[in-house]
Amino acid sequence: MRGPPTILAVLGVSFHAAAQDSSSLVNTLQGAGLTSLASAVQRANGTQAGQGLLNQLSSGNHTLFAPNNQAFDAPGVFAATNNSETLANILAYHILPGNFVNSSMNSSALDSGVLPNVTLGHTLLTNSSLVQLEGNKPQVVAWSRNDSNGQIYFLNQRPQVNVVNTTNVGNILVATVNGVLIPPGNITSVLEQNNLTAVNGLLNMVNVPGFFPNGTNATAGTVLDANSTHGYTLFAPTNEAVEKAGSSLSSFSNNQTALLALLGNHYVNGTSYYSPQLQSVNGNSSNFVSAAGQPFNFNTNSSGTFVTSGNGASAKIVKSDLLTENGVVHVVDNVLVNTQSDPSRASAAYASATSVAAQSSTQTGPIGGLSTSTSNSNSTSNRTSDASSVHAVSAWATLLVGTFGWATVMLLWA
Ligand SMILES: *[C@@H]1O[C@H](CO)[C@@H](O)[C@H](O)[C@H]1NC(C)=O
Ligand SMILES: *[C@@H]1O[C@H](CO)[C@@H](O)[C@H](O)[C@H]1NC(C)=O
Ligand SMILES: *[C@@H]1O[C@H](CO)[C@@H](O)[C@H](O)[C@H]1NC(C)=O
Ligand SMILES: *[C@@H]1O[C@H](CO)[C@@H](O)[C@H](O)[C@H]1NC(C)=O
Ligand SMILES: *[C@@H]1O[C@H](CO)[C@@H](O)[C@H](O)[C@H]1NC(C)=O
Ligand SMILES: *[C@@H]1O[C@H](CO)[C@@H](O)[C@H](O)[C@H]1NC(C)=O
Ligand SMILES: *[C@@H]1O[C@H](CO)[C@@H](O)[C@H](O)[C@H]1NC(C)=O
Ligand SMILES: *[C@@H]1O[C@H](CO)[C@@H](O)[C@H](O)[C@H]1NC(C)=O
Ligand SMILES: *[C@@H]1O[C@H](CO)[C@@H](O)[C@H](O)[C@H]1NC(C)=O
Ligand SMILES: *[C@@H]1O[C@H](CO)[C@@H](O)[C@H](O)[C@H]1NC(C)=O
Repeated sequence: MRGPPTILAVLGVSFHAAAQDSSSLVNTLQGAGLTSLASAVQRANGTQAGQGLLNQLSSGNHTLFAPNNQAFDAPGVFAATNNSETLANILAYHILPGNFVNSSMNSSALDSGVLPNVTLGHTLLTNSSLVQLEGNKPQVVAWSRNDSNGQIYFLNQRPQVNVVNTTNVGNILVATVNGVLIPPGNITSVLEQNNLTAVNGLLNMVNVPGFFPNGTNATAGTVLDANSTHGYTLFAPTNEAVEKAGSSLSSFSNNQTALLALLGNHYVNGTSYYSPQLQSVNGNSSNFVSAAGQPFNFNTNSSGTFVTSGNGASAKIVKSDLLTENGVVHVVDNVLVNTQSDPSRASAAYASATSVAAQSSTQTGPIGGLSTSTSNSNSTSNRTSDASSVHAVSAWATLLVGTFGWATVMLLWA
C-alpha cells in the first residue's frame, strides 16, 4: 500500500496471472525488486515440496511474507537456505493460507492487535523433522504491532523482523518483511534464548527413569522435546518468580510426588494453546486441565491475562507465544505452587486432547479469531531480566538435590 506506484503496477498486473503460472510469480517478485526471493522460489521449485507450495499458493487466499534482498544477505541466512530441501521448508514458513486482513482497516492492512495482543496463523510448514505439533498441525507464526511506532513485528525472531510494506494483489496479500523468518527450535533453545534459565535448569535436572524404549533415563526436558510429544502449553515462571518462590518450594524439596505435580501443574499435555485462546471471551474464562490433572483457569482483565491453578495459585502472563517445534511457552510472573495431582483426570484429558487434535482440520485465518482490542498496551511487562538467573538456578538446584526417583512417580501417573 505504501510502495511506489510503479511497483504496485507490476505487482497488480502480474499477481493475477501468478494464480495460474508459477513462473509469472517469479517475474512478479523480480519486478518488485524481490530478486533474492524470486531466485529462492526457483531453486525450491526443483524439489517436490517446493512445487507443492507453488501449486498451493495459486488457489485460495494466502498471505505471503516476502523477505526483501537485505533479508537474504543477513548472516546465517545463506546457510539456512543453501540446500533446496531446507529452503522449501523455510519458504513454507512464509506462506499462510487464509485472510489476515484487518477488516476495520484498509483492505491490505495485515491484521494485528496492538501489543500485547498477538496474531497467529498456521503456515504451510508441516515437515515432521521441524514440526511435531498435535494432530500433525503445521507450525504457526506470531506477530504483533508496536503501539509506539505502529510497526508490525514478528515474535520469536532474532534479530527482530518487521513488516515493511503490504500489498493486496490477486488472491495473495504480499507483506514484504526485512528478515527471513526462521522456524522455531526445540524447547531447550527457546527457554535459553528467553533467559528462562531456572525452568531450563529444572527440566535438565529431572530424570525420567526408563523413558526410552531401551530402559535408559531421560530428562524432563528431553521428554517434552521427544518425538512422541505432540503439543503442549507450558507456563514458564521467570527467574525472578522462581527466586521469589524459593522458600515455599524448599518445604517439599524432598517430596518426589509433590515435585512431580508441581511441574505437571505448569503445562497442558497434548494441546498447544496460543494466547488468543487463553483470553476470556465475553467474560467467560477458558478452562483446561494440567498435565497433573488439576484445573487451569484463565481470565483477562485490564491488567492482563492470568492463569490460575486448581488450588488458587495464580500468575500473570508477562510474555506470550514463545513457539517451539512441538508446543508453545508462555512466561508467567509466579510459580504456580500446587502439588496436588489427579493422574486419571490427567490421562483422560490427554486422551481427549489427542482425539480432538486428530479430528480437527487446520484453521485458516487468525488462530482464536481476529484481535480487536487496542487498549491495554503494557509493553514494559514484556521483559524478563536475567539479573537474578544465577540465584534462580541455584534455587532449583537446592530444590532438586537429592530428589532421585521423582520421575518414577512421573511414570506412575503418566
Ligand atoms: C517449476 O517447475 C515446473 C516443472 O518443472 C515448471 O513448469 C515451472 O515453470 C517452474 N516454476 C518456476 C517458478 O520456476
Ligand atoms: C478471499 O478474500 C476475499 C476478500 O478478502 C473474500 O471476499 C473471499 O471470499 C475470499 N475467498 C475465499 C475462498 O475465502
Ligand atoms: C523435510 O525436510 C528435510 C530437510 O530439513 C528434507 O530432507 C526432507 O526431504 C523433508 N521432507 C519432506 C516430506 O519434504
Ligand atoms: C526424532 O525424529 C527425527 C526426525 O524425524 C529423527 O532424526 C530422530 O532420530 C528421532 N529421534 C528419536 C529419539 O526417535
Ligand atoms: C516499539 O517502538 C519503540 C519506539 O520506536 C521502540 O523503542 C521499541 O523498541 C519498539 N518495541 C518493539 C518490541 O519493537
Ligand atoms: C538408549 O536409547 C537412547 C535414546 O534412543 C540413547 O540415547 C541411548 O544411547 C541408549 N542407551 C543404550 C545403553 O543403548
Ligand atoms: C508429598 O506430597 C504429596 C502431594 O502434595 C502429599 O500428599 C504427601 O503427603 C507428601 N509426603 C510427605 C512425606 O510429605
Ligand atoms: C485481574 O485478575 C487477577 C487474577 O484474577 C486479579 O488478581 C487482579 O486483581 C485483577 N485486576 C483487576 C484490575 O481487576
Ligand atoms: C502426556 O500424557 C500421556 C498419557 O498420560 C503420557 O504418556 C505422556 O508421557 C505425557 N506427556 C508429557 C510430556 O507429560
Ligand atoms: C536413572 O534415574 C534414577 C532416578 O533418578 C537414578 O536412580 C538412576 O541412577 C539413573 N540411572 C542412570 C543410568 O543414570
